[in-house]
Amino acid sequence: MPLPALFRHALRLPVIGAPMFLVSFPPLVKALCQAGVVGTFPHVNARPTAQLDAWLTEIAADLAAYRAAQPQAVVAPHGVNLVVHRSNPRFEPDLDVVVQHRVPFVITCLGHPGRVVDAVHGYGGTVFCDVTSAEHARKCIDAGVDGLICVGGGAGGHASAQSSFSLVREIRRFYDGCLVLGGAIGDGWQVRAAESLGADLAYVGTRFLATQESNAQPDYKQMVVDAGVADLVYTDRLSGVPANFLRPSLQRHGVDPDALPPKRPDMGSLADHEARLWKDLWSAGHGVATIDDVPTVQALVQRMADEYRAACALPRSAALAP
Ligand SMILES: Cc1cc2nc3c(=O)[nH]c(=O)nc-3n(C[C@H](O)[C@H](O)[C@H](O)COP(=O)(O)O)c2cc1C
Repeated sequence: MPLPALFRHALRLPVIGAPMFLVSFPPLVKALCQAGVVGTFPHVNARPTAQLDAWLTEIAADLAAYRAAQPQAVVAPHGVNLVVHRSNPRFEPDLDVVVQHRVPFVITCLGHPGRVVDAVHGYGGTVFCDVTSAEHARKCIDAGVDGLICVGGGAGGHASAQSSFSLVREIRRFYDGCLVLGGAIGDGWQVRAAESLGADLAYVGTRFLATQESNAQPDYKQMVVDAGVADLVYTDRLSGVPANFLRPSLQRHGVDPDALPPKRPDMGSLADHEARLWKDLWSAGHGVATIDDVPTVQALVQRMADEYRAACALPRSAALAP
């Protein structure tokens, strides 16, 4: 399946480190790229627009210096996630900054990506759109995106109720472009499984949240390590869009997970309420089931690469008749 030129022979593992609000800051983005997987962050983590400008300068300069100092290393491209929501006053000014910096990779979410496609294709950049349903996928394909990110059930952050197995195969039936699969992918076995399902790349959020370089507070990382799937609450009552939250973080802030307030209207990720919400009420996906450490990104990617190699070498099923 067609992989955009940006990613061809450019990664150590077919993985994009997913953008995470309040979690993906420059140290995580740079560590991911230096480990050979795509590093991304949501533009709204940089506040205000001047900080986005500064972060993009810093990331590009540090990665260039790293490439020069380590010519043998596989250093992956970086990217920015833009919230294309009508409520987002930062959208236009931040898109201008993205264009000025010619950011190689842009991920859109929560809106129609057409405006971003035009602007980013203008300088030769690559645009993927985050989708949680086949219907949304069709709209993004019509807008001319270079790839789709299918975020299936069990993902951290806003997640589909549709199983990844079903979502990616449904979209693959009508789309032969680049597909990325996300939702509870955190080891090399799962990355390989995503490829078996027809995805070209895997999208990994929660697993990278629990790393040394992530901006999550130490308590948050520990909660991810301690949690099982029974500790997650999947609800649209908190942010207006269905998302997975860590039950103990709700309880800590006096929110009864079993008596949540009525559903709020979708306010978009920039509303003040939304920022406060994600600061206190922590999100994570079903990947928590197998997360039991907080390694460096470099060590984690090495482990995932070893698992991926082992998964690629799996023999055919012993159940098959000769
Ligand atoms: C704490 C957290 C914050 C997130 N913030 C964003 C965001 O700002 N923008 C976005 O497009 N996706 C966001 N996501 C979703 C991720 O980009 C990605 O879709 C998801 O993490 C993949 O599933 P996984 O967590 O099971 O690996 C967030 C996820 C988490 C866990």
